[in-house]
Amino acid sequence: MQNRINNLFGIKYPIVSGGMVWCSGGRLAAAVSEAGGLGLIGAGSMTPEILKENIRKCRSLTDKPFGVNVPLIYAEIDAIMRVIDEEEVKIVFTSAGNPKTWTKSLKNNGVTVAHVVSSSKFALKAQDAGVDAVVAEGFEAGGHNGREETTTMVLIPQVRRAIELPLIAAGGIATGEGMAAAVALGADGVQIGTRFALTEESSAHESFKNACLRLPEGETMLILRKLSPTRMIKNDFFKLLIEAENRGASGDELLEIIGKGRSRKGIFEGNLSEGELEIGQACSLINEIEPVENAVKSLIDQYKAATEKLSEMRFN
Ligand SMILES: Cc1cc2nc3c(=O)[nH]c(=O)nc-3n(C[C@H](O)[C@H](O)[C@H](O)COP(=O)(O)O)c2cc1C
Repeated sequence: MQNRINNLFGIKYPIVSGGMVWCSGGRLAAAVSEAGGLGLIGAGSMTPEILKENIRKCRSLTDKPFGVNVPLIYAEIDAIMRVIDEEEVKIVFTSAGNPKTWTKSLKNNGVTVAHVVSSSKFALKAQDAGVDAVVAEGFEAGGHNGREETTTMVLIPQVRRAIELPLIAAGGIATGEGMAAAVALGADGVQIGTRFALTEESSAHESFKNACLRLPEGETMLILRKLSPTRMIKNDFFKLLIEAENRGASGDELLEIIGKGRSRKGIFEGNLSEGELEIGQACSLINEIEPVENAVKSLIDQYKAATEKLSEMRFN
């Protein structure tokens, strides 16, 4: 399969595993790259030292291309970028911030840069900043989300019209049928979070993974619009937040309720009532915790079947 994303990153399938706090360490990234996609290490929940360890671990498990996701709001961003430079990481996906700040210096160091956006306005800004590819992430996605709340179905064709760059669709894609839909809408590849968060190689806690698998449709919701809209499971912590929002709590009050380390508590330590359980709508499409290799194989098999079915549905 030759396309712009495969050529840009030197991979077999245009499938990226999104950077995910507490899920995507070196083990998950290496497994995705070994399976033919592009694995990303999520620096968002790592100290610079831990990021370094995960980059080295990933390299010990695969010689295929992999990358690092860097949320640009990260407090220790200079130290994180130093590690990326010293460890000679050649692919970086930036998110949650202004792409102008780091793109030029990364590119001067020979890094291929993609930036995550939630609207065509931000996609144009990323293109102006000189990135090599754009990830457009819709409302269905797990974790922090755009303020616009545009669904992937509407976002991808809009961004496709706005920019020329290689485009990666994200948000709600967990099957090969979803991949085929994203390509039909104008994407060159997909970024998948939720499905890979629930694989064997993900570093999330088993209780978190199992709770996500059991979730019926409608059990995740976007909340915290005053701070940073976030999609999470409707557990006890979520109920505290929604009660506070409904009585008009300020951003500061919400921050106080959240406190420190909530996503670590939920995703990494498996505290299902007090933790922040970030996951996407697509978890209701996933039935088992499987090895990454199986997940990628089934994505490709389903993609092939879906595109064949579509070709039988030609109208005269
Ligand atoms: C548990 C979790 C943590 C995430 N953490 C990050 C992060 O640190 N940085 C980032 O850019 N995106 C993050 N995301 C978003 C993913 O990288 C990806 O774009 C998104 O999950 C795609 O949508 P999907 O969940 O429907 O597959 C996270 C998603 C999940 C589910």
